[in-house]
Amino acid sequence: MDGLITPHGGKLVNRVATGSQLDALKKEASGLSKITLSAKQSCDLEMLGVGAFSPLDGFMGKADFESVCKSMKLASGDIWPIPILLSVNKADAPKVGDRVALHAPNGVLQAVMTVKEVFAHDKKLEIPNVFRTEDEAHPGVKQVMEEGDTCLAGPVDVIEVCVDPKGPEAFLDHRKTPAETRAMFKERGWKTVAAFQTRNPIHRAHEYLCKCCQEICDGLLIHPLVGETKPGDIPADVRMDCYKVLIDNYFVAERTALTVMPAAMRYAGPREAVLHALIRKNYGCTHFIVGRDHAGVGTYYGTYDAQLIFDDLDKANLAIEPLKFEHAAYSKKAQGMVSAKTFPKIEGDQIFLSGTKVRDMLAAGERPPMEFSRPEVADVLIKWATKG
Ligand code: ADX
Repeated sequence: MDGLITPHGGKLVNRVATGSQLDALKKEASGLSKITLSAKQSCDLEMLGVGAFSPLDGFMGKADFESVCKSMKLASGDIWPIPILLSVNKADAPKVGDRVALHAPNGVLQAVMTVKEVFAHDKKLEIPNVFRTEDEAHPGVKQVMEEGDTCLAGPVDVIEVCVDPKGPEAFLDHRKTPAETRAMFKERGWKTVAAFQTRNPIHRAHEYLCKCCQEICDGLLIHPLVGETKPGDIPADVRMDCYKVLIDNYFVAERTALTVMPAAMRYAGPREAVLHALIRKNYGCTHFIVGRDHAGVGTYYGTYDAQLIFDDLDKANLAIEPLKFEHAAYSKKAQGMVSAKTFPKIEGDQIFLSGTKVRDMLAAGERPPMEFSRPEVADVLIKWATKG
């Protein structure tokens, strides 16, 4: 053990093959039947391989799936909010006991899996429980609806960890496994670490949340999600440039770390907030930022639903502490960031901009104002938005 927070379920899983096992798997895979993964499944496979989804060591079986949907727990009793499934079309499903080769969407051989179970993908159970809606306009619901009707479960042996089809956007310098972030925290002497999940370019409210945490924790891990996101979200490479320029200009280097989190977004709001917290526990973080409408989309979730969900969880099993933040915004009168907890409400005083509004501004070649974005971040965004 590394003296840091215990990984979820007790120990960090590592399913990445090395040495002679790796050679043997590659040889074996050429003779196995092939399954081509979706982008989301390929991201999940990386998460499973490096132990970011500990205690899972492979795609879920039926008992875990049903228990997760109904009661947000694995069959073992550990909290788990969202199924991690490998679903395929029934016609393509192998038999129990088969070994199959899993290929990334770009064709690269990513893993070998032993099929322990084959079961029907009960979307009627999954969708309303996980997403709190069955509306197919919800991007997470739509994604599940498009998935196969049959699930394959079993442990995976990962051959190629990162199969990012975007090449240079693979962020290899910032792609640290849970074992590596843990080693980094130890080396830096951080005992308490707050994690910041984000899928957007970093704005001043984000910065405010991060800095509040830096006042109370030894370190901050800015941990952007770089797996699959929905069309319209700002690409991860542009966001990375925003995080870097903000850290360089506005953060204390010794107390701030930036690494990427390769999961796919589900847009499942409250349940995804719990998943995001458990993942960060595996990466060695002790605290997790949950702000306004965390992992939400549209108007499917209440502003603080993703905070309320933590109140009913077993704190000992969760172990990582959610740090809950009110909606923060820039106040003209206070000349700084405020929330309803820290500054009286004055009509028209605060500057609120939605992600959609910012994207519209950028598309029109308009810079987000300094009350919303630091100028260095606005420069990165405007350069990207106007590059032809
Ligand atoms: S998310 O899908 O990763 O949640 P985003 O990158 O926008 O989206 O948010 C990152 C984190 O910052 C989340 O915890 C979110 O709740 C929080 N957050 C975003 N904007 C605000 C805000 N104005 N006030 C408080 N919290 C916020």
